[in-house]
Amino acid sequence: MSEFAQTLIRWQRRHGRHDLPWQACRDPYRIWLSEVMLQQTQVDTVIPYFRRFVDRFPTIDELAAAQAEDVLALWSGLGYYARARNLHACARILVRDHAGHFPRRPEDIAALPGIGRSTAAAIAVFAFGARAAILDGNVKRVLCRHFGVDGDPGGSRVVAGLWSLAESLLPADAVDCYIQAQMDLGATVCTRAKPACERCPLSDSCVAHRDGRTAELPSPRARRPRPERQQRMLVLRDRRHRVLLERRPASGLWGGLLTLPAYDGEISALADWLASHYGLQAARLCALPPLRHAFTHFTLSISPWLVELDGVPQHIDEPARRWAETTALDALPLPTPVRRILDGLGPFSAPPAADADAGRSG
Ligand code: ADE
Repeated sequence: MSEFAQTLIRWQRRHGRHDLPWQACRDPYRIWLSEVMLQQTQVDTVIPYFRRFVDRFPTIDELAAAQAEDVLALWSGLGYYARARNLHACARILVRDHAGHFPRRPEDIAALPGIGRSTAAAIAVFAFGARAAILDGNVKRVLCRHFGVDGDPGGSRVVAGLWSLAESLLPADAVDCYIQAQMDLGATVCTRAKPACERCPLSDSCVAHRDGRTAELPSPRARRPRPERQQRMLVLRDRRHRVLLERRPASGLWGGLLTLPAYDGEISALADWLASHYGLQAARLCALPPLRHAFTHFTLSISPWLVELDGVPQHIDEPARRWAETTALDALPLPTPVRRILDGLGPFSAPPAADADAGRSG
């Protein structure tokens, strides 16, 4: 066994994480769910989401039978919603094609939607005791530093080299312990900023540590600055404290989630637009505090406006729109900034209809 693997396994037994809620079992469903949630999100954030998810959908069959909206609602706040849509699609494929069971081989697992090579290997190792290497962001960082690997760790040449390295280091036994050790070392010791080399079991043989290059490795990606997009969002609230929500198309940004209507025109034209577009009468308009939300490729700068409506609108007869009670938003799939806007709303304050001043107030 490589010195690298032996040291990590010893370290994991004493210092690694052993009580994460998905570690107590070998249930491929729980392991798969945790790995997908952990793809872009840290352990502390994932734990409560993981618990709520398995409480509500304890098995692959129950997840497959769920409504997409309920799955997205449980994901609401975790971001990267394609993960939830793929999870749901994958559960349905497992029920349809695999009698509700996970295939055992990493390459068969990797053929399922939303599961890449590294996630497939982690599932196969933790659930089925396979011998397979992983290469997520944490492991790339550990390998680049320890072996002094230069170059863009997202580039295909470096990635191919790192996969070969990861496979050559795999021990014959205790593979699950070794894989968990790599994850834990990357998350808790060999962190991106300020690595705790004084606590690292591998520091004696680490090239980056020896050469004082931990801040340089892995080589940072050439990042373009994130462009900024502006969007005005409307909180159309009626006298029964219901707000109008619109469902996003199934794929793409916030796919399948419920968001607030967007409005691109002038504020002075908003009241007329509401009347012609939705048949709604605005009683009062007021700007709410702006907020920013970072996506992978751009930052969305949101200017929310509260529009208090005269009376109680009729049912809008469109499947993509719905009036939602502001007291019942928890169960809905809302993106984080929309939830923040709605959580921050004060009480209804529109004057009686006779005093309406729509189109004038700022
Ligand atoms: N990151 C990705 N998978 C993980 C796991 N199983 N445990 C801890 N962190 C992880």
